[in-house]
Amino acid sequence: MNTYNGVSLPSFMYGTAWKKEATTALVIQAVEAGFTALDTANQLIHYQEALVGDALLALATRGKTRDQLFLQTKFTPVNSQGHRPPYDPSADLTTQVQQSFHGSVTHLHTDYLDSYVLHGPYSRQGLGREDWEVWKAIEALYEAGKTRIIGISNVSAEQLAQLCAQAKHKPMVVQNRCYAAFGWDKDVRELCRRYHVVYQGFSLLTANREVFVDPAIRAIAVRLGTGVAQIIFRFALQVGMLPLTGTTNVQHMKEDLQAEQFHLSPDDVQHIETIGA
Ligand SMILES: NC(=O)c1ccc[n+]([C@@H]2O[C@H](COP(=O)([O-])OP(=O)(O)OC[C@H]3O[C@@H](n4cnc5c(N)ncnc54)[C@H](OP(=O)(O)O)[C@@H]3O)[C@@H](O)[C@H]2O)c1
Repeated sequence: MNTYNGVSLPSFMYGTAWKKEATTALVIQAVEAGFTALDTANQLIHYQEALVGDALLALATRGKTRDQLFLQTKFTPVNSQGHRPPYDPSADLTTQVQQSFHGSVTHLHTDYLDSYVLHGPYSRQGLGREDWEVWKAIEALYEAGKTRIIGISNVSAEQLAQLCAQAKHKPMVVQNRCYAAFGWDKDVRELCRRYHVVYQGFSLLTANREVFVDPAIRAIAVRLGTGVAQIIFRFALQVGMLPLTGTTNVQHMKEDLQAEQFHLSPDDVQHIETIGA
């Protein structure tokens, strides 16, 4: 999978949210299980970015070097930061992005990122002054070669269309929660196809509990000799998404990666596409 600026992306990503003090051990296990891409954020209420960095140091001693891993982290606006924002909240937004980015590369013991993502727009509808100021600050990091790609998360179709149409550098990736009930984020995925933006889907399992018990999905899993989680991740891969998994279980890490090893029929894909409709 390539971005429109020619960066090659791993096909699966390990998400580090909500791992707390287990973050270091789980990241090491995930990489040793076969994940090469890690997602985090400089946002202490949900992520322990510094503990991801500790894992990277430990992995380096075992021969897993920086260039073998794809590191993605995020700039999180102050309204989603809780009481400990990783930047001066009274500074202008451009400075906040620069300070947060500096904190991220320090936590992760690197001098560049593979992907830097705006965690979510400030505006509920459309894009406002804050969104554009922050996006320009992120574009400046990209132009300076400090991150290979840039992206946006938790974005609506309307906002993504505006960003793609008006930004100097449109996002290379979008990261959204993917509900089967909304056609697996059909509108945003359609825009991503149109603008050649890679779609990363998160909470594919936790946002879709009803899919787990769907008899037709269970029948597909039985027929293919896999688990339901693998069917969902396989579906995501087959429709062109880059899925994230947040598993804390080593066996599940291996199972989730096995989604790359089998195929769903066009009928299976069609059924799953419309399962929540
Ligand atoms: N941009 C954002 O705002 C945002 C928001 C939320 C998440 N994210 C990113 O997305 C990542 C993933 O999110 P998520 O944790 O909600 O994803 P998820 O993979 O949908 O959910 C993880 C849950 O699925 C279970 N699971 C995973 N593989 C399984 C398997 N093979 N069989 C059975 N159960 C399985 C896990 O249980 P076990 O632990 O027992 O395996 C865990 O309870 C996060 O870590 C974060 O990096 C981003």
